[in-house]
Amino acid sequence: MTTLRDKTPGFGVYLHWPFCAAKCPYCDFNSHVRHQPVDQTRFAAAFRREIATMRERSGPREVTSIFLGGGTPSLMEPATVGALLDAVADHWTVPNGIEVTLEANPSSVEADRFRGYRAAGVNRVSLGVQALNDQDLRFLGRLHNVAEALKAIELARETFPRLSFDLIYARPGQSVDAWSAELDRAIGLAADHLSLYQLTIEEGTRFQLLYDAGKLSMPDSDHAALLYEITQDVTAARGLPAYEISNHARPGAESRHNLVYWRYGEYVGVGPGAHGRFIENGRRNVTFTEKMPETWLDRVETHGHGVIGGEVLTREEEADEFLIMGLRLTEGIDLTRYEALAGHPLPLRRITELQDEGLVEPVGNTRLRATPRGMIVLDAVVADLARE
Ligand SMILES: C[S@@+](CC[C@H](N)C(=O)[O-])C[C@H]1O[C@@H](n2cnc3c(N)ncnc32)[C@H](O)[C@@H]1O
Ligand code: SF4
Repeated sequence: MTTLRDKTPGFGVYLHWPFCAAKCPYCDFNSHVRHQPVDQTRFAAAFRREIATMRERSGPREVTSIFLGGGTPSLMEPATVGALLDAVADHWTVPNGIEVTLEANPSSVEADRFRGYRAAGVNRVSLGVQALNDQDLRFLGRLHNVAEALKAIELARETFPRLSFDLIYARPGQSVDAWSAELDRAIGLAADHLSLYQLTIEEGTRFQLLYDAGKLSMPDSDHAALLYEITQDVTAARGLPAYEISNHARPGAESRHNLVYWRYGEYVGVGPGAHGRFIENGRRNVTFTEKMPETWLDRVETHGHGVIGGEVLTREEEADEFLIMGLRLTEGIDLTRYEALAGHPLPLRRITELQDEGLVEPVGNTRLRATPRGMIVLDAVVADLARE
């Protein structure tokens, strides 16, 4: 298994399945509910066409990870997942054994489907568990209960070599003790990776309407910071330290795919509303596709792709993105790479100021990282460092 010491950023392939059985009230991802069955064969053919177009743009590459995200990819038939993975392997080089992750919702998994995904080449599952008590699952609008989540976890452990699951914390009224106990139980369920997200109020969600109407009382920033600190302490003590602001793993079990993003590697994004960032003609390109699934489908069938926008990044933009992504990591950023991207070093005076405030710290001679306190106010730290 590759370890965090292998710093090659890599080339990932992200495939976005944009459908969900219901829309969660906190979620602003590109996910859509359809009351008619989705024509998966037609969508799979469109994914293949868009992959072919991306291959023309990226040139021949060796893929380092594949991620089927959503939406709810576990609403796909195993044959659809197989068709998507085959299309990737037909267009780029896919070495044996690379990480292939599928996001699954506990309510949409069945044993047969899981076995089918495994046979299709999926070797890692990321389960959207979100909470380990029924009351909070109902509050979060989830379709599963704790018993179903536990069954899905067990099934995933039996079927896949690697398992991660997501929890959302800093829920209204959540005490430190309640969260510590829930987290402790989660770690005992023996996933090798956990994504632990603080609940955020996103634009355009039902929770935002409730929040604006004064009907949702969110934890204040001091309580949220306390919950964050507890999260770091409990996970570290139990052998799953944070390697990114919200992601925790046993050493060696970090998500290769997410590391591609945070280490500012390259990735292509395929499917409705997917983003990509890869080198084309020697420059880093951003691509993004049409979000509405049926419109994306029409575009792909007509033009061979659903890309509706993108740009070539300037050196400054690349350096800023590198900073934003890399400082989320516990390993921090390589200052020499920043200098190579930006064409100038990060201003020493600003590093020193942030260091004096206890928000960043050097790692060896060439790396810089956010301290645990800096992680809590990371947006401000990045803005300070990137300031002209
Ligand atoms: C796009 S979802 C995909 C996974 C899958 N559809 C599911 O919900 O189980 C990725 C994760 O983002 C997290 N998430 C989405 N919106 C959030 C929010 N407003 N606050 C905190 N976490 C959020 C959830 O933990 C979710 O599992
Ligand atoms: S959180 Fe997951 S299941 Fe819920 S709407 Fe978003 S993508 Fe769909």
